[in-house]
Amino acid sequence: MKIAWGITGAGDRLEECVKLMKSLADKYRDRVEVYAYISKSGVVVLRHYRLLDYVRSNFKTFTEISANEPFLAGQLQKGEFEFLLIMPATSNTVAKLAVGIADTLLTNAAISAVKAFKPVYIFPTDREEGLITTKLPNGKELVLRVRKEDAENVRKLREMEGFYVLNDPREVESVIEKHLEDINRRTLKDLRRGQPTSQQKL
Ligand SMILES: Cc1cc2nc3c(=O)[nH]c(=O)nc-3n(C[C@H](O)[C@H](O)[C@H](O)COP(=O)(O)O)c2cc1C
Repeated sequence: MKIAWGITGAGDRLEECVKLMKSLADKYRDRVEVYAYISKSGVVVLRHYRLLDYVRSNFKTFTEISANEPFLAGQLQKGEFEFLLIMPATSNTVAKLAVGIADTLLTNAAISAVKAFKPVYIFPTDREEGLITTKLPNGKELVLRVRKEDAENVRKLREMEGFYVLNDPREVESVIEKHLEDINRRTLKDLRRGQPTSQQKL
């Protein structure tokens, strides 16, 4: 199973997300391949947190040139990936998705994926109105306000077909398990019908 993992320019819980994906990629290395797709701001923010080289050395990594370069939207629509995960997702990316704007690599990939019935899992940094304590690149803590408008965009996304909002990065493991089971089920069904399996078709 191939997974497209989108990283936007969000510093909040970034290290946790990156380390979690590395441990999941290790745990499922016989069955899952993780490809990282980084937004332009994602590159800047990963660099600030000294995580850019770590991501590049542990994952096949692609960086945003434009909404259609690399052509992740097309790859998702052709079924090359089982699903798209955006984690962490900035309030900027969430706001665009909430109104259907597809002008960046990851917003275009997400909206195109949903159009082709591919699920999109998303972990937004700003989920609920109130205060969050975030860690700055220098390790110091900073208290920030989650605006009600940003929380409202997350709520809209939760209601949209094809989008699944995660409340915690650790939920990704059960998403992977679910999709591995789905693939097994589909393969068994194809075998029973004597048809080439989805894996063979790819
Ligand atoms: C060091 C740093 C940390 C940032 N952290 C966040 C964050 O946690 N959440 C957020 O919504 N934006 C954050 N931003 C701002 C976004 O990077 C900015 O809105 C950018 O336009 C997002 O683009 P993207 O959604 O295409 O990645 C951060 C910016 C910098 C430089």
